Amino acid sequence: MSYKISLKMTDAATAGEFENPMGRTILESVLAAGADYPHGCRAGNCGACKSHLISGEVEMSPYSEFALSNEEKARGLILACRAVPWSDCEIEPIAVEDAAVHASRRLECRVAEIEAATHDIRIVRLDILSGGPFDYTAGQYAELTFDGLPPRDFSMAAAPGADHLEFHVRRVAGGTVTTHVLENLSVGDPVRVSGPMGTAHYRAGHKGPMLLLAGGSGLAPIKAIIEAALAGGQGLFVYFGARDERDIYLESHFQDLAARHGNLKFTVVLSEPDGPTMRRTGFLADAVGADFTGLDGFKAYLAGPPVMVESATEALTGLGLARRDCHADAFYTEPEKSNP
Ligand code: FES
Repeated sequence: MSYKISLKMTDAATAGEFENPMGRTILESVLAAGADYPHGCRAGNCGACKSHLISGEVEMSPYSEFALSNEEKARGLILACRAVPWSDCEIEPIAVEDAAVHASRRLECRVAEIEAATHDIRIVRLDILSGGPFDYTAGQYAELTFDGLPPRDFSMAAAPGADHLEFHVRRVAGGTVTTHVLENLSVGDPVRVSGPMGTAHYRAGHKGPMLLLAGGSGLAPIKAIIEAALAGGQGLFVYFGARDERDIYLESHFQDLAARHGNLKFTVVLSEPDGPTMRRTGFLADAVGADFTGLDGFKAYLAGPPVMVESATEALTGLGLARRDCHADAFYTEPEKSNP
């Protein structure tokens, strides 16, 4: 038993009809047929597969409200990665503003450098051996496969065109992949990289000031966006949230950049300092609220744990930032992906 999915796309090569076996999501069926469809996390968290359900009925498995708001749902939008058809359906992916369109690549890479950034974060730099060139927009991410382990998503941490691909890997409690990277990965090891993906990427057309909020290893995509935007001259207000002193990394790198570029301001905010500190403390959203009375004309980029991204997004929109000017990449762990 299967249903028919009619896909409306501006790309005539992809538009068409697809069989959807019972129980499969729309995204799974379209990709299994070898067609392209906008997507990212495949788990109801990022919103990249948001689509109009023009006709038909679907059942949605759990997803993050960050990916699809109740108001969007009421307007007939669905997430193709969560939607299982219960009838023939007609759908159309929504146009993503300033979508970053790059060829999807599968690269064979080699570990060139590993740097201990903090007690639980490693900066891993890769050389591309084959499958390139790898074009992407700052802020996007890729799927990395380390020697026989399940693939995981990590953000590119350097602007496109840098000498190496750079990723920041933070240990996830009980995570086999991140534990492998922290404890066993060696220079010379092979790594497969597939991508790029993600819609929380740098919009070069915006010439106004930018607010960049990073929590933990969420500094990776924010670093890439800073590197891509620095020469533009607009104000770049960066807030880096860390638990305590030992969780701060790349501070001297950004201080040096700020000393050379008057348009960059880098502020560290500690959420759980173990003792008195001269630094800013509290949550990122509170620090931004204390520094700005309004965010008219800004664009914001946020990356980090879901709770930080969601609370900061709410705070920024409360300060007058339009939702369309708020681009966020929430880092979900594998268990969180299963239960958004
Ligand atoms: S791919 Fe569907 S929400 Fe991310």
